[in-house]
Amino acid sequence: MREDIIGRANVEDTPELEAYYRELAKHEAGALWTVANKIEPWFPQSTSTPTLWRFKDLRELVLRSVDLVTPEKAGRRVVMLANPTRKDVSASVGWLYSGLQVMRPGEEASAHCHSASALRFIMEGSGAYTVVDGHKMMLNARDFVLTPNGTWHQHGVEESGEWCIWQDGLDIPLVNALEANFYAVHPDLAQQPTFPVDDTTLSFGGPGLVPVDFKWDMAYSPLFKYTWDATYESLQRYARVTDGSPYDGIIQQFINPLTGGPVMPTMGAAMQMLRPGEHTRAHRHTGSIMYQVAKGRGYSVIDGRRFDWQEKDIFCVPSWAVHEHANLSDTDDACLFSFNDLPVMRALGLYREEAWLDNGGHQTITTDQ
Ligand code: FE2
Ligand code: FE2
Repeated sequence: MREDIIGRANVEDTPELEAYYRELAKHEAGALWTVANKIEPWFPQSTSTPTLWRFKDLRELVLRSVDLVTPEKAGRRVVMLANPTRKDVSASVGWLYSGLQVMRPGEEASAHCHSASALRFIMEGSGAYTVVDGHKMMLNARDFVLTPNGTWHQHGVEESGEWCIWQDGLDIPLVNALEANFYAVHPDLAQQPTFPVDDTTLSFGGPGLVPVDFKWDMAYSPLFKYTWDATYESLQRYARVTDGSPYDGIIQQFINPLTGGPVMPTMGAAMQMLRPGEHTRAHRHTGSIMYQVAKGRGYSVIDGRRFDWQEKDIFCVPSWAVHEHANLSDTDDACLFSFNDLPVMRALGLYREEAWLDNGGHQTITTDQ
């Protein structure tokens, strides 16, 4: 790839050079100038495609998996969300993976542990629970829970519950790209809870309060579970004292209460509220984001394509894609849950953000979807 710009590679092929390239190739070597412009782009070139996964299209297919495979045989009964241009690495966007998992009352998946960090956002059902390193947490719709790198964890639904569907989010593609992924099945296939149910939320649930004698040296949040009720209330309270972000409306990130930092070293998560009729300005940044519509209906414009969404729909914003969000209701707020790889971007000094000023702050929509 040649570029006629000073400082960029612009070497014409000649018979002599082609012979030279062939000689280099024989020795597992090559000339950097033949690929330099491609591997050092002027700005990030995401290979992911902005994509919307409609829950109404996927729900029946997810439920059908219950008749087709057992959790015992499948390990985890999950329909994965495959970005159309990232199927080679099972990524939903960038280096993030996501899927929809379903469980019936009385089912429990075997306990396991992996180097990838994981999170879940509950979509529907009741009686769901997760056990993380002996902490059992009961989960309701729109609750958010962590299963960090290296923790033993298992998921299930109580006998008295209802069919549950949730979204999984993991950094599997990232950890595989770094060639650092390990996986282990628990020797007993299940772990017994060793703490009182919901002890983490009950210990850290207060506003800015942490038990005085609490000791913790892990790189992830000891809270594990974040309930929808507390999250939604927090956004509403915050909305009373702020105009919000021009790009995201009223947005708060889920944090590790001991550090104020993201919930896990590789993945962050946030909840944002778009007020009735709110239409944000457009921006772009490095880092990949997966969104799930927690409440309401609206649309997002991502790199010039409009994606209309409603509750439980999932969509992605690839790195450096220009994006803006709009709430289509004039009376109700809309909420977007999201998870991202921004902690990686920030830790490695790769985070960059830019306002998009074309057309008065909004993108021109070139193709409707
Ligand atoms: Fe897992
Ligand atoms: Fe953004």
